Amino acid sequence: MLKPNKLANKNFLSSLDMSTEEVLHVLELARSFKNKDLNLKLDSKVLGLIFDKSSTRTRVSFQVAMSKLGGTTIDLNPTTSQIGRGEPIKDTARVLSRYCDVIAIRTFDHSDLEEYAKWSTKPVINALTDLEHPCQALADFLTIHEEFLDFKDVILTFIGDGNNVANSLILCGALLGVNVTIACPKGYEPNSLVIKKAYEIYKNKALLKITNDPISAVQGANVLYTDVWSSMGEENQKEEKDKDFLGFTIDNDLVRNAAKDAIILHCLPAYRAKEITDEVFESNRSRIFEQAENRMHAQQALLSCLLS
Ligand code: CP
Ligand code: NVA
Repeated sequence: MLKPNKLANKNFLSSLDMSTEEVLHVLELARSFKNKDLNLKLDSKVLGLIFDKSSTRTRVSFQVAMSKLGGTTIDLNPTTSQIGRGEPIKDTARVLSRYCDVIAIRTFDHSDLEEYAKWSTKPVINALTDLEHPCQALADFLTIHEEFLDFKDVILTFIGDGNNVANSLILCGALLGVNVTIACPKGYEPNSLVIKKAYEIYKNKALLKITNDPISAVQGANVLYTDVWSSMGEENQKEEKDKDFLGFTIDNDLVRNAAKDAIILHCLPAYRAKEITDEVFESNRSRIFEQAENRMHAQQALLSCLLS
């Protein structure tokens, strides 16, 4: 029977905290958990959740994944704990490491997450920062593998903001050797360091493309992926971004330019008539809710590796 292997890195702060072999192992474990081939009980482990931003999927999928593993979760609300009062991260991290076995954190600055990881003696998981959303990418590639059974011939096109979700897709895509195209308006390209690191990983550099033309980007694509134009923390840029992203909506016209077998992904929550039309969102090409379900299976696999 498949068993979770310990990961080389203590933390999962970035998609790059795993090797290619480790990502493939986590995805295989996730499939086994999903198919109920694997029923693993860890010994009463405790996951602490610190969420400085709202969340439905990440929070609940972590809670359920942990309970499926026989553990429990403590939801540390920053406003009712001393975190919101400004207790230094290095103090909070050292205290929580003495109570919890693993901590998942959603926050703004990636450097705050790194500060938690620096002081925590227990594994720290990135539950989304402004820079990356690596747990999302695991579920995304699990969903893509479910559909195409391999990554070899898959062309993944992300249409939208070069944000946290795009950054992690690029990095995880690079580890898996997936053909990834990002189409975004000028000025909204993914993080330049992320792009640089991805090019260092790709054996075939032609597999990663960044373009400002959504129509050419979707030619031949098997996966069309989008995310909100204004992320959490960017609420005051909404009006400007809505204008800048005109032409970047995944609608039927755009889908017609993709491969015949193309599926639609969205990490959710979605704004219909902005980054995606209701018709495409609800179409039979959509795997959006399979993708949301896969958050739970992927994180169950991740937790089992970090805690073994
Ligand atoms: N996709 C995602 O992370 O959703 P939540 O913000 O609801 O956690
Ligand atoms: N890019 C979005 C993802 C939400 C899951 C945000 O950061 O708000």
